Amino acid sequence: MCGIIGYIGEKVEENLLQGLERLEYRGYDSAGMTINRGGEFVTYKATGKVENLKKTLKFNDDLGMGIAHTRWATHGKICIENCHPHFSSNGNVALVHNGILENFEDLKAELSKEGKYFYGQTDSEVIAKCFDRLDIKSLRRVLGKLQGSYALALIAKDSDSIYFVKNKSPLYVGFDGSQAMVASDPSCFVGILTEYYTLEDGEYGRINKKEAVFYNKNNEKIEKYITKLDFKVSYEEKTGYDHFMIKEIYQSRIALENIIERYKQEEIINKLKLLKNYEFDRIYLVGCGTAYHAGLIGGYYLREAFNVDVFCEIASEFRYKNLNIDDKSLCIFISQSGETADTLSVLEFCKEKGGKIVSITNTEYSTIARLSDICFPICAGQEKAVASTKAYFAQCLIFYIITTFLKGKDYILPLQNFKRQIDFGDDNILKPLAKNLVKYDKVFFIGRGVDYITAKEASLKLKEITYIFSTAESSGELKHGVIALIDSSVPVIVIATDEKLFNKTLNNAYEIKSRGGKLILFTSLQIDKDIKENFDYVIEVKKTSKEFQSLQMILPLQKLAYFTAIEKGNNPDMPRNLAKSVTVE
Ligand code: AGP
Ligand code: GLU
Repeated sequence: MCGIIGYIGEKVEENLLQGLERLEYRGYDSAGMTINRGGEFVTYKATGKVENLKKTLKFNDDLGMGIAHTRWATHGKICIENCHPHFSSNGNVALVHNGILENFEDLKAELSKEGKYFYGQTDSEVIAKCFDRLDIKSLRRVLGKLQGSYALALIAKDSDSIYFVKNKSPLYVGFDGSQAMVASDPSCFVGILTEYYTLEDGEYGRINKKEAVFYNKNNEKIEKYITKLDFKVSYEEKTGYDHFMIKEIYQSRIALENIIERYKQEEIINKLKLLKNYEFDRIYLVGCGTAYHAGLIGGYYLREAFNVDVFCEIASEFRYKNLNIDDKSLCIFISQSGETADTLSVLEFCKEKGGKIVSITNTEYSTIARLSDICFPICAGQEKAVASTKAYFAQCLIFYIITTFLKGKDYILPLQNFKRQIDFGDDNILKPLAKNLVKYDKVFFIGRGVDYITAKEASLKLKEITYIFSTAESSGELKHGVIALIDSSVPVIVIATDEKLFNKTLNNAYEIKSRGGKLILFTSLQIDKDIKENFDYVIEVKKTSKEFQSLQMILPLQKLAYFTAIEKGNNPDMPRNLAKSVTVE
């Protein structure tokens, strides 16, 4: 999940720092940089965010080369020793690593027997200790020993090139005669290079200002296609907001507007037509975390429209289910980043089995987008806060569009109507509720039908940024066990947007009240005053059309999570232990 970068050219520290800032969404446990200055290494390291590293830099203007890293720790605690770059025993080679070396314990034991000393606990340091010198031959020798996922950038005191390897973690490289770069994300090239190469698994090589040399996994020298850099880095500011998260919640409306515009275009209509022509008898929806929840919503839409089996699966569990994937399987992958390792590995598996691969992503140049037969963009714009908000909203809308198009109906007008009705909930009620919620150490969410999915997403949002234990249960399931946990120390948030299910949900709410639980209602229904009196808080949002009712409810629930995080004094944009893009399994 870490971000790695290497640069050769002018203002090495400045360019590496800019890259790290763009890669920080991949982890912010620590950051480090090593510069080759006239054949000697100069290294800077700091725990925490990139801004801590920035304070230590000297910003020398000289020509040179360096590598840098922003870490999301997988092996070894967060400390300076474990902060990348890592070094060979003789100090001649430095490397940065994104991924997990699965056989690091065996290799470490072997190297220790040879007398090599380890200053930290990371798997990455073990790779560094496999080197004494840096050239293609020694790189090849070390690669033969490695098992796991790794994108590596390496430099040596006596070399004019950056060496690189890609296996299951993303890596891109580029050069232009006066500069060269390698990075986990091509956004690092924006403003520096105009073209770049995308590495495939097993590829490795070296790059300097004048040339790039590539080898494939069979050790054959290869030529690669170059891609034009045709996107910009949007310099999103918080303008007018305290945090990106709250800004992004409100940007759900902009995402909806963007979707309406883009999904009128022929380019997208052609993709929808292509999808309509596919023959399939099963649909698999795959994602992680919030993207998985969007898949659950997608399942709801699709099942209502078609008489085919729709399975929604958590990516990391997919391979243990022995699911029958073949050319009649339509496999839809949902991923904001388009780089999530768990999702990507299922995509590769389904592709190999002949499944039709469709993705719904916010990053049109991502690996998941690139490997898909059809990629539907979610048009949400950059999402910076770690907790996904507008991307979830947009992903669900794309499912609505796909379903409606496949049914042969118009989706533009309903979306335009929804845009006019959209309601984010009343802060005058949400803020005091948040103030109250921080007093509790656990919170439950319940809902029925599609509201149960909204409950799941709302619960994930709350725990991610407030660190309060929370869980979502289907209203009906509560009495089968979980109700044992209810007492006066437990607030339960009841989500009710479906008229037909309300009475049943209400009965479940009363079962909670009888046991002393606190009740909070989020609803878009017209509810009698006497019923409302049973609830400690009632958050009402405007009614919209049935297909968007539950989706709309996530907006005030996201805001509740945000306000609660603020009450707790947490930074909701960068919650502890998390990263925006999860590129390890
Ligand atoms: C969302 O709030 C989470 N941080 C997380 O669950 C995220 O949705 C998940 O890791 C999937 O990411 P992706 O959409 O980039 O694949
Ligand atoms: N395994 C390495 C570490 O813990 C790299 C982590 C990653 O890429 O997420 O430092």
